[in-house]
Amino acid sequence: MIDFFGMKGVPFTREIATHQLFDSSSHQEAFARMEYAVKNRMFCLLTGDAGTGKSTAVRVLAEQLDPIQYRYLYICDSGLTPKLFYREVLQCFGIKPAFRATDAKRQYQALMLDIYENEKKTPVIILDEAHHFTESMLQELRFILNFKGDSMSPLALIIVGQPSLRNQLKVKHLEAIEQRIQMRYQMVALTESETTSYIQYQLKAVEAPHEMFSEEAFQAIYQYSKGIPRKVNTFCSSSLMDARLQGKKIVEKSNVDRVMNEM
Ligand SMILES: Nc1ncnc2c1ncn2[C@@H]1O[C@H](COP(=O)(O)OP(=O)(O)O)[C@@H](O)[C@H]1O
Ligand SMILES: [Mg+2]
Repeated sequence: MIDFFGMKGVPFTREIATHQLFDSSSHQEAFARMEYAVKNRMFCLLTGDAGTGKSTAVRVLAEQLDPIQYRYLYICDSGLTPKLFYREVLQCFGIKPAFRATDAKRQYQALMLDIYENEKKTPVIILDEAHHFTESMLQELRFILNFKGDSMSPLALIIVGQPSLRNQLKVKHLEAIEQRIQMRYQMVALTESETTSYIQYQLKAVEAPHEMFSEEAFQAIYQYSKGIPRKVNTFCSSSLMDARLQGKKIVEKSNVDRVMNEM
């Protein structure tokens, strides 16, 4: 690895370990609500603009779930169809899916009840990138959650997507699904002071030897990124690189501006 200001690792990466995540207020709230939804086998909707940290929050939840109490499945497939959904669930939980969709649906229902009633565990299913789902996939959520004449649900289902998903669910013929949502949360970007703390926190995790950004650089990063973690990462990485190429010890506003102009 090239020497990067003498840091002990690469900051601002996608692969950040869950124990090194920054605890923003939005991240905390998303986690707390999902945790509650999972404990109470609810249907939960998590939305937020691209890069606000939805998938990251879900990753933390997955790591915290006790395998003695839960069976967890995460599906991130923007082209998910009902048929693929049932196949994926059955396969991941160790059952060979029947060829016919109606049979696979029945297998799915039996499996969820079996896990809940006999194994005494809660199945937790997370569907990410749900704003890409077709209407038929969204319609199917009704059946995915319908057990014993709709008297109960043995599973927790969390659907995750961009804010447009909320509007998609508001249309008339999806009302029955919208009404079933028991927990919802929209993640928001970091505030300006959180953005600065986020950057400092990431730098601390790689033991950056000194302050790496000037006050004006922090301000510019917030202004351009609007506090969206993925964008903050891009600005920080690129402007660090820019400063390094110029032989500077610290990122100045001019480095952030240049990165912005190149985008
Ligand atoms: N709490 C956090 N702490 C540290 N980095 C984060 C955090 N939340 C998000 N990120 C960073 O932002 C990037 C985008 O987050 P992600 O969860 O993929 O967003 P979304 O799913 O909402 O599009 C992640 O790859 C990660 O590097
Ligand atoms: Mg995501």
